[in-house]
Amino acid sequence: MWDVLKVRALVREEGLKQSMRVFNWKELKILHGTGEYLMFDNRNKRNLTRRKALSLLGVGAGSIAVQAAFPTRFAIGGDAKIKIGTLLPYSGTYTWLGESITNSFEQALSSHGGKLGGRNFELIKVDSEAKPPKAAGLTNKLIDQEKVDFIVGPVHSGVAMAMTKIAREENMMTVIPNAGANQVTGPLCSPNVFRTSFSNWQPGHPMGKVLLEEGKNTAVLCYWSYGAGKQSAEGFKDSFVQGGGKVLKEIGIPFPKVEFQAALTEIAAIKPDAVYVFFAGAGAVKFVKDWAAAGLKDKIELVGPGFLTEGVTQAQGDAAEGIRTTLHYADTLDNAANRKFRAAYKRAFGKEADVYGVQGFDAGQLIRAGVDSVRGDVSAQYDMIAAMERAVIDSPRGKWVFSPAHNPVQNFYLREVRGGVNEVVRIAMENLADPARGCRA
Ligand code: BEZ
Repeated sequence: MWDVLKVRALVREEGLKQSMRVFNWKELKILHGTGEYLMFDNRNKRNLTRRKALSLLGVGAGSIAVQAAFPTRFAIGGDAKIKIGTLLPYSGTYTWLGESITNSFEQALSSHGGKLGGRNFELIKVDSEAKPPKAAGLTNKLIDQEKVDFIVGPVHSGVAMAMTKIAREENMMTVIPNAGANQVTGPLCSPNVFRTSFSNWQPGHPMGKVLLEEGKNTAVLCYWSYGAGKQSAEGFKDSFVQGGGKVLKEIGIPFPKVEFQAALTEIAAIKPDAVYVFFAGAGAVKFVKDWAAAGLKDKIELVGPGFLTEGVTQAQGDAAEGIRTTLHYADTLDNAANRKFRAAYKRAFGKEADVYGVQGFDAGQLIRAGVDSVRGDVSAQYDMIAAMERAVIDSPRGKWVFSPAHNPVQNFYLREVRGGVNEVVRIAMENLADPARGCRA
């Protein structure tokens, strides 16, 4: 951990005479307000605003040089709309997820007279198609052509990897309302990137513990073999295998394929105590139906992170009944924010809300907390980030706060599908934080 003394010692040692050096964000935060030295991450200099550069400089002698070096991007005038680009799937396997996030995000933003920090805003919606190869081009388009102030997205971990690398480089304010890629709040963690959902490690981790507590010691894992599926399996194994459980087989299925027959035949032959799966959206509908049709429903316990039954129980029908999952949300959570949220969602969209909507809603609440704190001056990025870091989000999932890596610290619930509803059974793990391996925040 850095502290002021350490940084001052470093400054002496380095004989810091020039106004710019490459340091990390932690140092910048420490020095903010001391007025003694200017340090900042050189990667971000292109987007460092004049206001921010001046506030970081205090009364330092280097201020003239820095004023000349940085564009006055903030000087867009109080009347200009705040621009928010959503990079979400509006087609393909994850369409439901993207729409659910967008619906609730817009609902959160349209409260308070439809203004953010006193300013109007507009959304620029871009279809990510949940296709990682398209992510860099679409992210660059939002930044360079649309000149957005925030990016909200994505759903898919592969898209998140490409998007986050650019967002870090460009110092673009980014709120991730679903994609769980561990790296985003791990080695790629960044002051300007926040996540209102989960890391892939988180929802799987409690399920290993739940199974062991019930004496279920053998498992087969089956998942879409891209980042999210693999990391979800790792989260599960971190509790299950370390607690003495045995993984008999791991079966990867290429995303977004839904040909599950060979996997089901293999699982039936292995006969584990439980099968842990990662599928979501249309893939989850197909897997759960195929599982029941193969006659496995009453023979082997099917479990997973809650995406297996989120937003899809109507489509899954009877096949979903009794499936137990772990997640940071359940339909029946008994708190005022959840009751209000679900009723408003049903009224506006004529269908039940789900976890994706909750994450989108919280992304809206987070952006509001940040923009309100600077009264609409989104160029005051340091102060905005500080307010977002401090935010206590009054979410339908229950109140939560950010970890230092900008990932939610939150409860994980054991849930069961009863009558098409993901009901709470109990808290499986309380205030679970992602390990944030590799984050130097
Ligand atoms: C992901 O790719 O990170 C993801 C997609 C759907 C549900 C959960 C995670």
